[in-house]
Amino acid sequence: MPICIRSPASIANLGPGFDVLSLAIAEPYDDVYVRLNQGDDYIEFIGNYSHYLPSDYKSTTLYPVIEEFRRITGINFSVRIIVKKGIRPASGLGSSGADAAAVAYALNKLLNTNLDTKSLIRIAALGETAAAGTPHMDNVAASLLGGLVIINPVTGDFVRIDVPNKYWLSIIIAGNKPSTKEMRRLLPSTIDMGSLKNNSAYVSMFIYSFISGNKEILSKALMGDTIVEPIRAKFYPHYNAAKETLLKAGAIGVALAGAGPSIFGLFDHEPPKDNIDKMLGAYGLRDHLLIVTRPSNIG
Ligand code: HSE
Repeated sequence: MPICIRSPASIANLGPGFDVLSLAIAEPYDDVYVRLNQGDDYIEFIGNYSHYLPSDYKSTTLYPVIEEFRRITGINFSVRIIVKKGIRPASGLGSSGADAAAVAYALNKLLNTNLDTKSLIRIAALGETAAAGTPHMDNVAASLLGGLVIINPVTGDFVRIDVPNKYWLSIIIAGNKPSTKEMRRLLPSTIDMGSLKNNSAYVSMFIYSFISGNKEILSKALMGDTIVEPIRAKFYPHYNAAKETLLKAGAIGVALAGAGPSIFGLFDHEPPKDNIDKMLGAYGLRDHLLIVTRPSNIG
């Protein structure tokens, strides 16, 4: 019996919460079909974005997940996986994480391994190594669980929170990034105490104000990162135009989605898509994709 999973995209970091915060979103998503196979593994990516992915399936984010299940079970099973891509790879919307999460979830069912959620997050995060060089857990946790996820990347402990249904998101996908690996390599390996205190305070305030609806604090918190986003933003020529546009359009706050290049605005009403498009055009930004979507409580 194949298992078919609709795995949502996610927005990691949410400003100050590098590797710690992540939000599942309703669209885009990938549809992932998984079944145990006779003979060799067969993995195929189909859909608009399939050409972005490596042709050698051993280089995809799915392979470390499959290998880990082989190690855990001691069974040399084979799989047939078809991924219909709706999430643009390397856009900052957790494309690789959504697929790794779906495969971890499916293999747990197909192999009757009964692993708990913390273990599934750990295994799915192994897949991220293929894209990011290190196994970060934020995107896979949001795709698996839905909602807003707070994850401790050191211990794997996590909390999932249902998102109030008043929020909307406008996401501008434009430009390219060298790779998530590269965008992580740029970051400092140590930070000063002032930056730690600033980001810890804003992560806490983000969670409180996101739930309680205090817009003033939410805005400051979402745009309060002083460690990661200022370094990455310099690599994206469209960053300032996109940020100004979304704020003018009424966003509560704006930040890079994951490692970028996508930039998202958080709204408490439906974002004015046509206006945003027009304003971006006035900045000379035309080769972009504008998505209006909502957070999703379904993983
Ligand atoms: N937290 C990760 C990063 C997300 O910012 O590198 C990558 O999508």
